[in-house]
Amino acid sequence: MSNVRAAITGVGGYVPDYILDNQELSQLVDTSDEWIMQRIGIKERRILKEEGKATSDLAVRAIKELLEKTNTDPEEIDLLICPTITSDLVFPSTANIIGYKLGLKNAFPFDISAACSGFIYGLELASRMIEGGSYKKAILVGAEMMSSITNYSDRATCPLFGDGAAAVLIEPTAEEVGVMDRILGYDGAGIVSLNMKAGGSLRPPTHETIDNQEHYVYQDGQVVFKAAVSKMSDISIEIMNRNNIKPENLSYLIPHQANLRIIDAVGRRMGINKSQVLINIERYGNTTAATIPLCLWDFEKKLKKGDNLILTAFGAGFTYGSIFLKWAYDPE
Ligand code: UT7
Repeated sequence: MSNVRAAITGVGGYVPDYILDNQELSQLVDTSDEWIMQRIGIKERRILKEEGKATSDLAVRAIKELLEKTNTDPEEIDLLICPTITSDLVFPSTANIIGYKLGLKNAFPFDISAACSGFIYGLELASRMIEGGSYKKAILVGAEMMSSITNYSDRATCPLFGDGAAAVLIEPTAEEVGVMDRILGYDGAGIVSLNMKAGGSLRPPTHETIDNQEHYVYQDGQVVFKAAVSKMSDISIEIMNRNNIKPENLSYLIPHQANLRIIDAVGRRMGINKSQVLINIERYGNTTAATIPLCLWDFEKKLKKGDNLILTAFGAGFTYGSIFLKWAYDPE
């Protein structure tokens, strides 16, 4: 077996300037700041309002920052993976468009569709490709323009989502840092509980699908809530046990940011303190594949070389995953 591990060696991010706060939302639908803060824990989310811009533009800005921070030449990038459910076009892939816009001439670009678990699925894939020895500098960019599939007349879903992107550079290392262990999976029985009903080959767009508002996120909130809490905590506890990580030895849990009550419940079940959980949901909402890298971006200065991190996510499909990662560098 090879000793090569895959380590995150830099982070870049971007969120649009426009802030949609609970005050403005309560003018669109029958809701209130109090309800949203109590039930979800989101104060505001960012929305991409610029004419003619899409998910790839968010990703491009995040990657530009990453390349600058890590002093990387775009032509050195040999792998570009974009987990997203809000691709610019049905085809070609958003990674394809991002690569072209940035001049990543030597990258092998493709998207993956795993909804809120997209970053975890992408990190598994990228790390295996790096460990295999064929790729040396990979970019994984979680990017979403959730506002393009959010129904701003449905109070049950519109407070939840926001737009944003964040990217990580992944490189091989011989040190004891990087991706150490992983658990990934899915439960297809959840497909019916969280999806977008039309726009695919099953129900191509028609006047009827548009009139029926079928081009937006649909979810059975309570079913998703319960499954998210139990699955994220079960697999995170399993990964702690099999790597002999006691709660006090975990530096940080970095959970997918869908609902503060879900995050708190997962932390409690894992037996860790609130100070061990990285949370930025109040400022960005649920940006689907971008939540975990946006947390890494926001809290990068807190992270130290050798920190034990668990990244965990749950989303449509039902997809899920937890990754045990040892952070690879100290803050500047
Ligand atoms: O990333 C994975 C994707 N999604 C998730 O992880 C989300 C998982 N689910 C959730 O976060 C929660 O289920 C929601 C935030 C979506 C909903 O919270 P809940 O505590 O499960 O509320 P509920 O759907 O049971 O609704 C409770 C009440 C209902 O009123 P009645 O029937 O009791 O009179 C709703 O109509 O709250 C009402 N309600 C609202 N009231 C004010 C629902 N949305 C709103 C709202 N403002 N925005």
